[in-house]
Amino acid sequence: MTQKLRFAIIGAGRIGYVHAGSVFDTPNTEIVYIVDTFKEAAEKVAAAFGGKVSSDPEAVIASGEIDAVIIGSPTPTHIPLINAAIKAGVHVLCEKPIDLDIKNVDSNRAAINAAKTNVTIGFNRRQDPEFKEVKKRVSAGEIGNVEQVVITSRDPGPAPQGYIAVSGGIFRDMTIHDFDMARNFIPEIVEVTAFGANAFCDYIKEEGDFDSVSVLLKGSRNEIVTIINSRHSSYGYDQRIEVFGDKGMLQIQNFTPTTVKLFNKESTAAGEPYLDFFLERYAASYRNELKLFIQGIQEGKNLGSTYDDGRAALILADAALESARTGKAVRVSF
Ligand SMILES: NC(=O)c1ccc[n+]([C@@H]2O[C@H](COP(=O)([O-])OP(=O)(O)OC[C@H]3O[C@@H](n4cnc5c(N)ncnc54)[C@H](O)[C@@H]3O)[C@@H](O)[C@H]2O)c1
Repeated sequence: MTQKLRFAIIGAGRIGYVHAGSVFDTPNTEIVYIVDTFKEAAEKVAAAFGGKVSSDPEAVIASGEIDAVIIGSPTPTHIPLINAAIKAGVHVLCEKPIDLDIKNVDSNRAAINAAKTNVTIGFNRRQDPEFKEVKKRVSAGEIGNVEQVVITSRDPGPAPQGYIAVSGGIFRDMTIHDFDMARNFIPEIVEVTAFGANAFCDYIKEEGDFDSVSVLLKGSRNEIVTIINSRHSSYGYDQRIEVFGDKGMLQIQNFTPTTVKLFNKESTAAGEPYLDFFLERYAASYRNELKLFIQGIQEGKNLGSTYDDGRAALILADAALESARTGKAVRVSF
C-alpha cells in the first residue's frame, strides 16, 4: 500500500487512548480524527497523537476522509457504528463485546458478515506474543492432545459502580476475553457450568452482578476448561494460563517489569509487583491486533477475530450467567 491508511478513533477513553497510540506508532497510517461525545477526552488524545477533534462519529464515518475506524466507545454504540462504517465503505476494528444482547448480534449478523470491508473484533489476547507462542506449540503437537485448559484472570481492582451498572455483568464484560481464549484452544465447546459469588464488593452486589466467578466449559472431545475470575487481586493484575495435554503442559506466568531477582540474607526471589493492568500487560497484543487488521485490509480478508468469534463468546457468557443463576449445566451450540 503506497497511500497512508487514514484512521478515525471513536471513543477517547481508556482503550481509545491505547489504540490511538498503536496507530501513531504504525508506519503508513495517519490519525485523521479523534472522536468523542465528550470533547475534552478527544482533545486530550489528539494532543498526544494528533488528529482533528470531533464529537460526531456518524459525520466522521461518512466524511470520505477515512479508510478505517477503531470503535472504542461504550458497548451499546458498537453495532450502530459498525453498520454506519460498512455502509460508508470504511474498515472496522471494533472493541469487544459486540453488544450485550445476543438478539442484536444475531439480527445484524448476516449484513455485517456480508460487508465488503474488513470487520475485526478486538479480542486482543489472541495476539499477545505469549499466548500466540503457546497456541503455536499446541498446534505443533508439542503437548499432544489437549485435555485441560486453566485460565486465571483477576483484575487489580473493581471498575467503578457506574461502569459495572452498564457493563452487562462480569461474564459479558470480563470473562468474555477468557471465553474467547478458551475457544482459541478448544474450538468446539458444548457445555457451560458456572458459579458466581459476591466475595468482597457491596456495590457490585447492589448492581446484581458477581465479583468472583468460576466457569467450567466442556469440549466435544471431553476437554475441560476452567476459568477463574475475580474483580480484585491484592498483588496486581493476575493473568495466567495452563494448557495440559497427554504429552505435557505449557504454562504462562505473570509478568514483572523486569526479571531481575534479588538474592540476599532475607530473600531469594524477585520482589517486584506484577504489571499493573491490561494497558501494560497486553500492550503488545493491541499493536499486533492493529498490524493484523491492516494486513487483512491489504490482503482483502479478515486475519483477526471475526464477528462470529464475538458472537460465540457472547453465547458462552449468556450460558454462564444462566448456569450461575440456575445452578444447572447449560448446553450450547453456535
Ligand atoms: N480489549 C480490551 O482489552 C478492552 C479494555 C477496555 C475496554 N474495552 C472495551 O472498549 C469499550 C470502551 O471501554 P473503555 O474502558 O475505554 O471506556 P471509557 O469509558 O474509558 O471510554 C469510552 C469513551 O467513549 C466516549 N463515548 C461515549 N459515547 C460515545 C459515542 N456515541 N461516540 C463517541 N464516543 C463516545 C466517552 O465519552 C468515553 O470517553 C467497551 O466496549 C469495553 O468493553 C476493551
